Amino acid sequence: MDEIKIGLVGLGTVGSSVLKMITENSHKVQNITGRNLSIKTVVVRNVAKHQQEVPEGVTVTDDLTAIVDDPEIKIVVEVMGGVHPAKEIITSLLKAKKHVVTANKDLIASAGEELAVIAKQNHCDLMYEASVAGGIPILRTIVTSFAADYITEVKGIVNGTTNFILTQMQRKHWSYDQALMKAQELGFAESDPTNDVEGIDAAYKMVILSQFSYGTHIKMSNMSVEGISTIQQEDVQQADAFGYTIKLLGISRRIDDGVFAEVGPVLVPQDHPLATINNENNAVMVTGKAVGETLFYGPGAGGLPTANSVLSDIVSVTKNIVLGTTGNGFNNYQSQVGKVDPKNVIYPYYLSLKMLDAPGQMLKFTQIMTQIGASFSQIVQTKNDDQTARVVIITHEMSKAQLNDLKTYLSKVNTMSLLAAYKVL
Ligand SMILES: NC(=O)c1ccc[n+]([C@@H]2O[C@H](COP(=O)([O-])OP(=O)(O)OC[C@H]3O[C@@H](n4cnc5c(N)ncnc54)[C@H](OP(=O)(O)O)[C@@H]3O)[C@@H](O)[C@H]2O)c1
Repeated sequence: MDEIKIGLVGLGTVGSSVLKMITENSHKVQNITGRNLSIKTVVVRNVAKHQQEVPEGVTVTDDLTAIVDDPEIKIVVEVMGGVHPAKEIITSLLKAKKHVVTANKDLIASAGEELAVIAKQNHCDLMYEASVAGGIPILRTIVTSFAADYITEVKGIVNGTTNFILTQMQRKHWSYDQALMKAQELGFAESDPTNDVEGIDAAYKMVILSQFSYGTHIKMSNMSVEGISTIQQEDVQQADAFGYTIKLLGISRRIDDGVFAEVGPVLVPQDHPLATINNENNAVMVTGKAVGETLFYGPGAGGLPTANSVLSDIVSVTKNIVLGTTGNGFNNYQSQVGKVDPKNVIYPYYLSLKMLDAPGQMLKFTQIMTQIGASFSQIVQTKNDDQTARVVIITHEMSKAQLNDLKTYLSKVNTMSLLAAYKVL
């Protein structure tokens, strides 16, 4: 049987699971593709650390040219992470006519289009199923199973670390700091958790999901991105009392002729499917004009689940090699969309305010709401230990433009401050 040799760049959590899966599942893959796949060379930084982790016959090196210059290696898996030097490495691999599979969302969100062009010029495949929601096969599903449907919204829980932290805050009544510490202890959060907890990782994934769903590239700089590090236990309990669970959601929606995308904490009704996604799990909800609402659920990270997505790409590339159809692009949908006016982005909001506990303050706040043309459906006031009160409100539907006006008005009032403003689903 013909052999296809694979190069692996990175042998950490994902890389070592890719090696394990290729070795253990080779029989099934052979059966499907008609090719015998095996890893020939692994590139890492620290060769001594990894020498014992590979089966006999596999070369471990810190020299990338061992892969780039090896004509026998046809497919390379990049699982080292980060934008640089991963971008330069993938570029040189594509120029050396190697097909590339990567799990690198940071890189694909920032330079995916550029790399796709280089891949096409060199008649190579560039696939990255594992870059969004780890083990959930969502990108290929959008490409193939939603190919003819008009997607109107894609939203979901696309970061396992933050979902784990929020689940602990809700179930155990822990503070954000306590829950983060537990996540770090269990390996669900990195020692520097900024990318996860500030919503940046989720935003990368929403950029990629939007590209697949609407054929358009949304710049990170055009997205509002808020994380979970300022969520207080009081907010979690208050949301619960109102019948909601706080989740960090990525939302990308067609509005008029444009696409609006945002990442931030959202109050999700407790009977909504997304409210039931707990711990490190992820879920992506895709709404199509024809199909309606669909939900894809599974592990958003972890070595083997992510390796499963990497392997599905390797199998797809292998089939393309066999059929002579490489270089076609993972996602070929291209479309122009306009900008969305903040006046047309409408949601109810959860507002948490700290205000001086004195007569006339609520009246002042109500006057501001009237001035911006907004109103509220629920309100709860509790006294703080000092001379202030915490006022929590669920508004009726209001626009993002009205919310911006509210923030401007409140910034000029020195007896009240807005602690949180979260969308309500
Ligand atoms: N972990 C997950 O659950 C998960 C889920 C989805 C996507 N991803 C993505 O998958 C990628 C890999 O993640 P991971 O968790 O497996 O990372 P990891 O455990 O930190 O492993 C990174 C590997 O890359 C190697 N490496 C780093 N810089 C290198 C360089 N300049 N040259 C050669 N090798 C280098 C490291 O070698 P040394 O060990 O010698 O330092 C290590 O073996 C990232 O893009 C990540 O975002 C991960």
